[in-house]
Amino acid sequence: MRTILIVGNWKMNKTASEAAAFVREVTPRLSVSPAVDYVVAPPFTALESVRAALGSSSPLQLGAQNMFWEDRGAYTGEISAPMLKELGCRYVILGHSERRALFGEQNDGIQKKLRAALAHDLKPILCIGESFAQREDGKTEEVLQQQLHGALAGLSLHSVTALTVAYEPVWAIGTGKAATTDQAVAAHRTIRAFLAKMWSANVADTTRILYGGSVTPQNIGALLQSDQIDGALIGGACLQADSFVTITTIAQSIGARP
Ligand code: PGA
Repeated sequence: MRTILIVGNWKMNKTASEAAAFVREVTPRLSVSPAVDYVVAPPFTALESVRAALGSSSPLQLGAQNMFWEDRGAYTGEISAPMLKELGCRYVILGHSERRALFGEQNDGIQKKLRAALAHDLKPILCIGESFAQREDGKTEEVLQQQLHGALAGLSLHSVTALTVAYEPVWAIGTGKAATTDQAVAAHRTIRAFLAKMWSANVADTTRILYGGSVTPQNIGALLQSDQIDGALIGGACLQADSFVTITTIAQSIGARP
């Protein structure tokens, strides 16, 4: 069984006090169920205040938007896995397309980050997805396979169990033009087939695969109708309390995958 996972990626939004106020407002309004996990990924500077605002009983778990692969040292401006762990992070988003496009991240570095996250017991959410041009050229499957291979090659069967994959077509992120459920399902099947081939049918069956890219309260229900889609990585629509709460209510009403 795969539990649905809803992740709010706040990107470079909300100061520490704004972030704390947000979680204080939404926590009592969340629909809680064992069939759905919720994660918020604030900027690094707000992790501490969000953790304090969440307290110990909140259904919201904490995630980070990125990290570096070394534990410590002369890496100005970077943040390590032990630093995130100490702040209460359970998840870390890796390889987001904005990191790839704007900050030059490549598969080999993403693989190092992924291994470091796993070594420190952080659950990586690996983002992959094709550009509009790649889709137009019929290269979606090839691009997804290359990104998966680049980030995951050589990972042990044991460590891959902590992995979540987020399929985020670049053309859908922040554009208001989400993939259709059929497009997302086709990509998710490609990802599952890759996991089955690389590891096992069991890994393919148990790994959560999220969709991301212009998810809203209006389209989350249709996306989650398919049992291939195990949740969502959501940017813009997670920044307002009302739309975040609505999304969690819809996800909760749908429940876990068989
Ligand atoms: P969006 O962003 O929901 O604003 O499209 C999703 C993401 O980048 O993770």
